Amino acid sequence: MEHLQQFITIKDPDFNGEFSTVQMLYGAEGNRVYLLGLGEEKDAVKVDEAFRKLSFDHKKYWKAPVQVVTADLSEAELQKAIIGLEMSAYEIGTFKSKKEETKAITFEMVSDKDITATLQEAQAIAETINRIKTLVDAPANQKTPKFLGQWAEDSAKASDYKCTVLHEKELKAQGFHAVMAVGQGSVNPPVVIVTEYMPKKDSAVDIGLVGKGITFDTGGLSIKPSTNLHYMKSDMGGAAVVLGVVELVAKLKLNVNIVGVVASAENAVDSNSYRPGDVIDSYSGKTIEIIDTDAEGRLVLADGLSYIIKAFQPKQVIDLATLTGSVVQTLGYTAAGMFTNNTEMSQELSKIGVDTNERVWPLPLFTDYEADLHSDIADLRNYSGKPVAGAITAAKFLEAFTDGHKAWVHLDIAGVSFGDSPYSKMKSASGYGVQLITNYIKEFAGN
Ligand code: BES
Ligand code: ZN
Ligand code: ZN
Repeated sequence: MEHLQQFITIKDPDFNGEFSTVQMLYGAEGNRVYLLGLGEEKDAVKVDEAFRKLSFDHKKYWKAPVQVVTADLSEAELQKAIIGLEMSAYEIGTFKSKKEETKAITFEMVSDKDITATLQEAQAIAETINRIKTLVDAPANQKTPKFLGQWAEDSAKASDYKCTVLHEKELKAQGFHAVMAVGQGSVNPPVVIVTEYMPKKDSAVDIGLVGKGITFDTGGLSIKPSTNLHYMKSDMGGAAVVLGVVELVAKLKLNVNIVGVVASAENAVDSNSYRPGDVIDSYSGKTIEIIDTDAEGRLVLADGLSYIIKAFQPKQVIDLATLTGSVVQTLGYTAAGMFTNNTEMSQELSKIGVDTNERVWPLPLFTDYEADLHSDIADLRNYSGKPVAGAITAAKFLEAFTDGHKAWVHLDIAGVSFGDSPYSKMKSASGYGVQLITNYIKEFAGN
């Protein structure tokens, strides 16, 4: 509660003095709770977190409806406050046979201004984040590539955008060889999901998003150690951001043409699995020597990137992926690794990341690293074999499939997409990226 006491002043209507702690309020039966904005020492970035924690910790004591007096909050702070309150409703125990008793809390936002639009927008954002978390936290036996495809189709119907799911036959016919190679060891066949939200008719695609959708990453034949292997159900965190952003942008009816591509496969161990030493083809036509089957994310993304650039020619391309352990070694759980040669996009994403508390930090794409991708027998290899600069060489690999696109950004979100949280005892989805990319798209729409 420490930081909350610092930020929030709370009043009880039947009490004249100010309470200094939240707890004191609940002794009195039948009182409504008034939140009177934030104190002097407010840290705008954490307003959502403060309200989320407040509601999460105390909702069991609250008697609906709870009134939130918003006079002291700026519009941006109000939006964050609502997002925080909505996010406290996220239920992680989806699969418990006996559900904990939960009651819905109604919040009444009290304001002398018309805050309807802010309210609706914040609710759409939080709802989408909660949906994305459910997806990332879902177990891999339920969350197959086909399941992700169905999720996208349902979302497209509900939020009025276009979705096409390419299954095995189409993937083979269209030449998604790298996606097929990664998925060939699994009984759950791979898919590529293509979502399109194009409100500006007959005009170019503004932003193309590509997400890594590995529904479970065993490492393949280059098998991972078993400790914490269960968390590899979250290796579709990048795909979840892409699906969430397209849904949200459609819900908010932003005037931007966007395409989202998810390359999804299960990286499994089987007699049909692709092998270290194999040479595979790719959508781009470049051949790849497989050194390590655990470097599978860059393979599916390679096809996703080549495809989106060839088929849609987006003005800008952003890919998101839980791509490397190396980025976690480098930046920990604090920021995503950002790779781009486009200074404008880099600056914009850095700024928005601070605002939404979904930070990114630049790492280089120097040509020196290209030597690490050399293969004697194929156009390139998928791993240098050296345990150095892993996040960078992975990014360099992806760059080889962007056809020299001048406005491409790769975000390695392995450290930030899934992790420790005050709201669960085990690691869980963070929702990282949905607001970062949506706000970036909003800025794009404004320009
Ligand atoms: N999915 C992993 C990366 C990862 C690690 C995500 C930890 C989240 C938490 C990725 O496919 C992987 O295994 N990368 C390897 C690449 C290596 C074999 C070149 C890695 O980073 O160790
Ligand atoms: Zn892997
Ligand atoms: Zn992976």
